[in-house]
Amino acid sequence: MKNVLIIGSGGREHALTWHLAKSPTVGHIFVAPGNPGTANEPNAENIAIKVTDIDALCRFAQHKQIDLTIVGPEIPLSLGIADHLQQVGIPCFGPSQKAAQLESSKTFCKSFLQRHAIPTASWQVFEQPDAAKDYVKQQGFPIVIKQDGLAAGKGVVIAQSQQEADQAIDQLLGDRYAVKRILIEDYLSGEEVSFIAMVGNRHIVPLATTQDHKKRDDGDVGPNTGGMGAYSPAPIITPERHDWIMQHIIQPTVRGMRAEGIPYCGFLYAGLMVSDKGIVVLEYNCRLGDPETQVLLSRLNGDLTTLCLQLLSDEPRITQEALTPLNWDTDTALGIVMASQGYPGTYTSGEIIQGLDASGEPSHKIFHAGTAMNDNGQVITAGGRVLCAVAQGRNIRIAQEKAYQLVKQIHWKHCYYRHDIGRLPPS
Ligand code: AMP
Ligand code: GLY
Repeated sequence: MKNVLIIGSGGREHALTWHLAKSPTVGHIFVAPGNPGTANEPNAENIAIKVTDIDALCRFAQHKQIDLTIVGPEIPLSLGIADHLQQVGIPCFGPSQKAAQLESSKTFCKSFLQRHAIPTASWQVFEQPDAAKDYVKQQGFPIVIKQDGLAAGKGVVIAQSQQEADQAIDQLLGDRYAVKRILIEDYLSGEEVSFIAMVGNRHIVPLATTQDHKKRDDGDVGPNTGGMGAYSPAPIITPERHDWIMQHIIQPTVRGMRAEGIPYCGFLYAGLMVSDKGIVVLEYNCRLGDPETQVLLSRLNGDLTTLCLQLLSDEPRITQEALTPLNWDTDTALGIVMASQGYPGTYTSGEIIQGLDASGEPSHKIFHAGTAMNDNGQVITAGGRVLCAVAQGRNIRIAQEKAYQLVKQIHWKHCYYRHDIGRLPPS
C-alpha cells in the first residue's frame, strides 16, 4: 500500500484524491492544503501546508515516508518542488523547475517550439511599449498580447483595435509585479482542446481527450477564466488527429526537452487550437487541467499511482506494454463549474452552500474547489471557482442533462455557472 501526497486545494486535487481513495494500492492520502471535499474522502487527510512552502512540504514527505507525490498546480513546480523532493529521495510525478519553464515562461516555450519545428502561432517578444505598439500597427487585428510568466490565465488579451492593444501593452508592461516582457502573437481561430499526456523517463501515455470552456459566460464570451466546465471525450479529436498530435507535437516535445538536457517528467498538458490551418500549440501547462481532471478521472478505471511510479522508473524491464493500463469508460463525463458571481474579478465569500448532500447516481460527483467550513460545520464559499458538478451519460447530451440536474440541487446566494457547457460548436 502506497502513501501519497497530493499538493493543491482545487477541484483537480479533489478529483485526484477521490480517484486514489478508490484504489486498492493506495494506503493513506495526504492533501496539502486540500479543501473540505478532500478531507471527506476515505483515507484522506488535509495537511495545513501552503503549496508554496517547498521546505515544509519536503520535510513532511520525508517524515511520512511518502511513496509518491502528485503536484496539482504549477506554482510549486515552478518553484522547484520536484527537484527538492528528488534530492531527498521522494518520488514526485511532476517536472523539474527547468522543465516547468514550458509553462512558467512563455518565451521559453515559444522559442523551444520554434527550435523543434513544433507548430505554434507566429510571435515576437517586446520589452518596450513603443516597439510593441508599432508592431501591432503593422500586424492588424485581432492580435494576441501575452504576459511572459505565470498569470493564472489572466495575462492574455485578445485586442480587437489599436486602442485596446495599446492599453493592454501599457498595463502588462507597467505591472510592477510582472515579468517585464510581453509576447505578441498571431490570433488563431478554431476550436481549443486540452491534450494531456503522462510523460515518464522512458514512455509517454496519453490520457483520454477533453475540452474545457475557458470563457466565463454563455456563448463563449466574457473574460477568460481557469475553465468553466469540461467534457471528455472530445469528439473533435478523431483517431487520425490523435495520432498526428502524438507524432508532431507530444513526441517531438518530449524528445526535444531530453535533447536539450532538461528531460520532462510528469503531466504534460498541451493547449491546442484545431484551426483550418491545422493543429497548433497555444500553450503548454506542466500539470493536469482544472476542470479537465474532474471529467477525465470520472471516466478512468486504472491504477494511477502504479502508473506514475512505473513512469518515473528507469528500469528497462518496464516496457510500454508492461505499463499498468488506463481504461476509460465509454460514457461521456461532463463537469460544470459553479463559481462565485463576479469571478474572475471580485466576488464575495463566506456564503453558505446548500444541497451538497443531495444524493445522485454513483456516477455523479460534486468536487470541491473554493470551499471552507465555518464554525458551525457548514460548507461555505471561499473562492472564485467553488464546485464542479460532474455526471456521466451514454452521450454528451445525456451527461449534460444529468450534470445540470445535479447543479440545480445546489444553492448559495451569489452562485454563477454557464448554461451551455457541452454545447458542441457547429461542425
Ligand atoms: P494561454 O495562457 O497562452 O493559454 O492563453 C489563454 C487563452 O487565450 C487560450 O486558452 C485561448 O483561449 C486564448 N489564446 C491564446 N493564444 C491565442 C492565439 N494565438 N489565438 C487565439 N486565442 C488565443
Ligand atoms: N482548464 C485550463 C487549465 O487548467 O489551465
